[in-house]
Amino acid sequence: MSTNIPSGTVAASDRHRSALGRALRVTASEKWDLNRRFPVVMTRASGAHVWDTNEKQYVDFTSCSGAAPLGAGYEPVVAHAAAEMRRTGGILPGPLSVHRVELAERLAEIFPIAERTMFFRTGSCATSAAVRLARAFTGVNRVLTSGYHGWHDWQLQDRPGMGLPNRDRDSLDFRYHLDLLDEFASIERVAAVIVTPEVNFFPPDYHQELQRLVHRHGALLIIDEVMTGFRYAFGGYHGAVGLAPDLITLSKGLANGMALSAVAGRADVLSAGEKTYMGNTYQREVTPFAAALSTLEALRDGTALARMREVGEQLIRGLNAVFANRQVAAWAFAWPTMFDVVFANAELGQMFFQQMWARGFLMQYGGRFMPSAAVSNADVKAAVEAAAEALPAAQSQLDSCDDEHDPLAAAIRFAGEHFVASPEAVRRWFIAPAQG
Ligand SMILES: Cc1ncc(COP(=O)(O)O)c(C=O)c1O
Repeated sequence: MSTNIPSGTVAASDRHRSALGRALRVTASEKWDLNRRFPVVMTRASGAHVWDTNEKQYVDFTSCSGAAPLGAGYEPVVAHAAAEMRRTGGILPGPLSVHRVELAERLAEIFPIAERTMFFRTGSCATSAAVRLARAFTGVNRVLTSGYHGWHDWQLQDRPGMGLPNRDRDSLDFRYHLDLLDEFASIERVAAVIVTPEVNFFPPDYHQELQRLVHRHGALLIIDEVMTGFRYAFGGYHGAVGLAPDLITLSKGLANGMALSAVAGRADVLSAGEKTYMGNTYQREVTPFAAALSTLEALRDGTALARMREVGEQLIRGLNAVFANRQVAAWAFAWPTMFDVVFANAELGQMFFQQMWARGFLMQYGGRFMPSAAVSNADVKAAVEAAAEALPAAQSQLDSCDDEHDPLAAAIRFAGEHFVASPEAVRRWFIAPAQG
């Protein structure tokens, strides 16, 4: 097995290896589940804590890939979802539940652009549906994209070693480069431009400029808020920075860990759903809608988001101090509830995060820090202390460390590798963090 397990750690024990071996035989992908994530088989989570098959405890700084901003097993949501599951039977023969109607009404209050909403289970389904709606509404096939929108064929991103036999030829990636967007949209009419706000790299001005350009070309604007909808701000990125998209997509955080996603926006565009078919069996399941209603209730007063912000600020400060102390060119930066860590030496970054994982702190290089409101001050303190040990341990694993100290060059490489942004776009818009 060639997983990136730092040797000599508890997790590298025989029992751990055998659990991984069993997983790999029947379900896991070495590349996607282990090396790119955390090479552990997990058993349970509570709040910001998670345990593996060895009963080793970790602190999760990802909110389960952003899905559970209130922390895993947040009791009011679990209690309400379980009670509603029992009361309603959990699934109904028809897709139109009271819960679905109430949730659409709640989303219309939170997101004023959400005149109507359709629901799905995953973020990939929501972004695929948004593109289908835009195509049905405009009668035009071509769409332009930037950033990650899921795993479906229409938008598969061109990352090293992937190959793209199936990418939809009517969907072009402009890689956040506005000149390229302009060029593509000038050659052929475009139904929609769908973009994931990479908020740590492209500022609100960038998105305003993008919106102007999209409108100039007469296309619909879809903001993919799967990541940002409840994490950047309650009301999404577009609401916070004053964008007016035609459609948005939502998922992570909507039901605090239960699978639910949505496309919301202009009533006339959503009505184009009549011209196509987007029914999905599990709209009949009541529990995720019940979980979403109580999640939104819990998020409503802003306390949870304020806590996520506080945790993020503490982590950013702590990690930057560790990097500065050892004079390592690495930066933790920008939006505290979803910040990035960029190393000038990406290999050192990978090793640093593996060392953190071995010490019981879950985060991955290139995977954004998305702390939940359940992270405690003690968790943060322990993580920063662990980082002070993990960094020299990672350095000692490398033969040599390059001494490139330019945050812009590092950001260009990071953004290209992790969300396929063009170097020109990052050079033009990225605001380099002061620390380094
Ligand atoms: C911005 C964005 N869009 C879409 C998706 C796809 O969501 P899912 O993994 O639920 O299909 C993700 C997932 O990370 C995402 O971050």
